[in-house]
Amino acid sequence: MNPAQDESRQKLEGFAAENEGGSCCSTSLRRPAQKFDNKSGLLALMGCTVDEDFKASDYLMESLTTPEIAKSDRPNDSAMCLAHGIKDPGRLLDGFGWKDLPKGSVIVDVGGGTGHVSMLLAKTHPQLKLVVQDRHQTIAHGRETKRVELQGHDFFDPQPPRDPPALYLLRFIVHDWADSYAAKILRRLREAAAPTTKLMLIERIIPYACKANDAEYRKSIPGTEDDSVVPKPLLQNLGVVNLNGYLAEIQRTLQEFDRLYAASGWKLVQVHKTKGLASQIIGAPA
Ligand SMILES: C[S@@+](CC[C@H](N)C(=O)[O-])C[C@H]1O[C@@H](n2cnc3c(N)ncnc32)[C@H](O)[C@@H]1O
Repeated sequence: MNPAQDESRQKLEGFAAENEGGSCCSTSLRRPAQKFDNKSGLLALMGCTVDEDFKASDYLMESLTTPEIAKSDRPNDSAMCLAHGIKDPGRLLDGFGWKDLPKGSVIVDVGGGTGHVSMLLAKTHPQLKLVVQDRHQTIAHGRETKRVELQGHDFFDPQPPRDPPALYLLRFIVHDWADSYAAKILRRLREAAAPTTKLMLIERIIPYACKANDAEYRKSIPGTEDDSVVPKPLLQNLGVVNLNGYLAEIQRTLQEFDRLYAASGWKLVQVHKTKGLASQIIGAPA
């Protein structure tokens, strides 16, 4: 092993040791501004590439196809700012009528990480109660508040006993899972739902490559009118099939979401477009 290889190996070992010990997460939480002090630099590079750049690239299409900002040179209109909610963090949640939910309504944020989305909801809508569910290892890094409860739970298991919530929220969950797994996650929620419980997936709905002859179908689901702005001769989906191949994600079209809901006891009833790329795809018990 030459000296350069040896140095790389040592850096990688240091990186692994730090993560295994958990010091990276705890330091980040306690002193975020100092989280990379005295580190090899590899951590910062990974954070920048995976957490910042990858997320920004997901918003490139939006920044290039939204007429008001497509030619803008303002920093806040860049894909990076859109992706990280720098301009308007609430934009992640716009669309759905959160304020119309009655006082005390419970929302279960399934696969909610350490609770960043629920914290935002709790802050903007004081009448709501939030339950964040995620794997035990993840939830251990979160922090409870009076209105945000944290619960270690595997979403493939039956829901823990509780009164059925007003809404199950799954933001950026099912795009990681093929239909058979995604349907199992949704079926678990359906089993625990009341007739009034709603399901909300926040996901990107992939446009078809060509104009589809589906105007009648779209009329039956509010919020799904075709408002594509992609100019000819570009494909309507801007080559997103290619993107799926690279990222190994399972992004779905409207009809694929419809079928997923039907396979798990839900019915797709409405879509709210947000200012970001993702839509809020609302289901009700079938
Ligand atoms: C792409 S992240 C989305 C996180 C969050 N909903 C958001 O919008 O930022 C997927 C989440 O699913 C969680 N997850 C993965 N497998 C899980 C499982 N079997 N049970 C519960 N949560 C799981 C991960 O820990 C992670 O927090």
